[in-house]
Amino acid sequence: MDAKSRIDILRKQLADHNHAYYLLDNPTISDFDFDQLLEELIVLEKLHPELFDVNSPSQRVGGSVNKSFETVKHKRPMLSLGNTYSEDDLRDFDKRVQKVVSEKYTYVCELKYDGVSISLHYENGCLKQALTRGDGTQGDDVTSNVRTIKSIPLVLQGDTPNEFEIRGEIFIPHKGFEKMNEDRLESDMDAFANPRNAASGTLKLQDSSVVASRPLDCYLYHSLGDLIKIDSHYKRLQAANKWGFKTPTDTRTCETIEDVLEYVKHWELARKDLPYDIDGIVIKVDSLRQQEELGFTAKSPRWAISYKFKAEQAVTVLDEITYQVGRTGAITPVANLKPVLLAGTVVKRASLHNADQIMKLDVREGDTVFVEKGGEIIPKIVGIQTNDRDLFTNATTYISECPECQTQLIRKEGEAQHYCPNDRACPPQIKGKIEHFISRKAMNIDGLGSETIDQFFREGLVNNTADLYFLSKDDILPLERMAEKSASKAISSIEESKKIPFDRVLYALGIRYVGITVAKKLAYHYQNLDNLKSADFENLIKVDEIGDRIAKSVLDWMGDQQNLELIQRLKKSGVQLEIEADILANRTHVLQGQSFVISGVFAQHSRDELKKLIENNGGKNTSSISKKTSYLIAGENMGPSKREKAEKLNVSIISENEFIHLLG
Ligand code: IVH
Repeated sequence: MDAKSRIDILRKQLADHNHAYYLLDNPTISDFDFDQLLEELIVLEKLHPELFDVNSPSQRVGGSVNKSFETVKHKRPMLSLGNTYSEDDLRDFDKRVQKVVSEKYTYVCELKYDGVSISLHYENGCLKQALTRGDGTQGDDVTSNVRTIKSIPLVLQGDTPNEFEIRGEIFIPHKGFEKMNEDRLESDMDAFANPRNAASGTLKLQDSSVVASRPLDCYLYHSLGDLIKIDSHYKRLQAANKWGFKTPTDTRTCETIEDVLEYVKHWELARKDLPYDIDGIVIKVDSLRQQEELGFTAKSPRWAISYKFKAEQAVTVLDEITYQVGRTGAITPVANLKPVLLAGTVVKRASLHNADQIMKLDVREGDTVFVEKGGEIIPKIVGIQTNDRDLFTNATTYISECPECQTQLIRKEGEAQHYCPNDRACPPQIKGKIEHFISRKAMNIDGLGSETIDQFFREGLVNNTADLYFLSKDDILPLERMAEKSASKAISSIEESKKIPFDRVLYALGIRYVGITVAKKLAYHYQNLDNLKSADFENLIKVDEIGDRIAKSVLDWMGDQQNLELIQRLKKSGVQLEIEADILANRTHVLQGQSFVISGVFAQHSRDELKKLIENNGGKNTSSISKKTSYLIAGENMGPSKREKAEKLNVSIISENEFIHLLG
């Protein structure tokens, strides 16, 4: 078979498997086999650059860098929907429809996905362009980023119109959002406030390979184009689904407004159980002929309306704005409120995010404020009641000095947050760094807690992490509330931490953007701190997963004389600053590229030992089974649901012995 035919077959096969996995939720191939086919395709495409195709499944990983997104005029304007908030509004909408449409009509009710709207343009069955909504007449061309979203087909299935547009919503499901934020916090990056912000931020990223790593998903709900010869919205959704699009699953056709109201009421409660956010319901007249009859207002169609769920709100008084200093020196303004009941909990504080947010809201101490609980964990202030305000109050002036150490704050260009640069002497920064150092995932010094650290600091016993190792029991016993037993425990757990391996020590140092995974990569690559210290920028960015930002942060940290002194003292006290020789000797790459889930109890190894074996041999540990899992290592008492899921996804299930065998 010639290369072209094989490439065509591979592209089709991979696209079909992708469709089965991401749309039908019914995988047709194991992860391992999928990767093999993909690998074969990538090799063939490299050998035959003349056969390049942007719609090849090999292009899903991204890689192109957009310096700026081109603004493109929409072929057909992207309108928005009229909003309603009550039953009466919906009945009024129905009356307006009844007035215009003489025959019987049917509504289609859909969920209103809370994400970023997107318009996809297809020609000859292939994705040509993806545009954001922008101002409705023109949007940004984000095609290269959208190509990485696995549930968006690059090549359509079956007979499709030669030219059409389809619109929908790009969003991030809860599970992916939580994981993404955990990873960000671990790497000292700000968490996204909610999945919608995360989706819209991701879509505008310059590097499409980063977009590819984010859990974006997309529902398509509105097809447009003269060549689509179907005159029912509902049937269009069904057709789009057949062409390979992920279309809304919880739609319902309703004959009467009473049925619509029932649907709305159902989802007002049931939305809590959905794996993604919705912010309302969209109601559309099904017949396109009737839609045409109804037409449009200047801004929105008369044949559709959205019912918006109310975010729970409360009204209270803002007593005081205070400012918190984090371990990296970042300043967060906090609104201290008169306690108020909101969505079942008493709220006393709300985040004000940063100086821009305070200015935008023009919020002042003493104001009557509206507090809302949206998708965010911390409630936010959404507005103020200005007519309650005393005439002679002044606008809030943001602090210019650190509230803890009075150092002049700085704000770097392009950053929203102010920072206190005094990382050596600003108390919350010093304590925050030590708290991070002793935390479970870092040095795991469980004989100490944040209160003891506070006490040690106040008494002048510790000023940095290395000081911990020079403490004796006699130093801490005289402290208030320090009993013999807790003093012994504190000293012994500090001593015990000297056994913590180098990768975790590196994480414990608290270098900005160096989370657990990055620390591991750096530790195994450089093997000891001296090597890492002498690495330059070019050398650092060659390491797998290390980009410019991390490299720069590592260089900054290593370039600081006080940090170098700290390392010297940690070294002197016996903290591991290199990978142990026997770990290095036992390290292999036999499990490179494979990921494992461990479940149950094992006869020969503990779960931690198995995890170590996987890591030391180049494999990856994950907690839940997905299409990407290579093996499930099954022990005694493994739950039946894990086995079921592995079987459904074609993940190989192996025993402890079979795993040992894999290691050779
Ligand atoms: S239909 C011309 N259906 O809501 C009407 N929109 O407020 C096209 N949205 O810009 C929109 N889920 O981003 C439609 N099932 C759904 C939707 C939906 C979310 C968004 C969309 C639109 C906005 C209008």
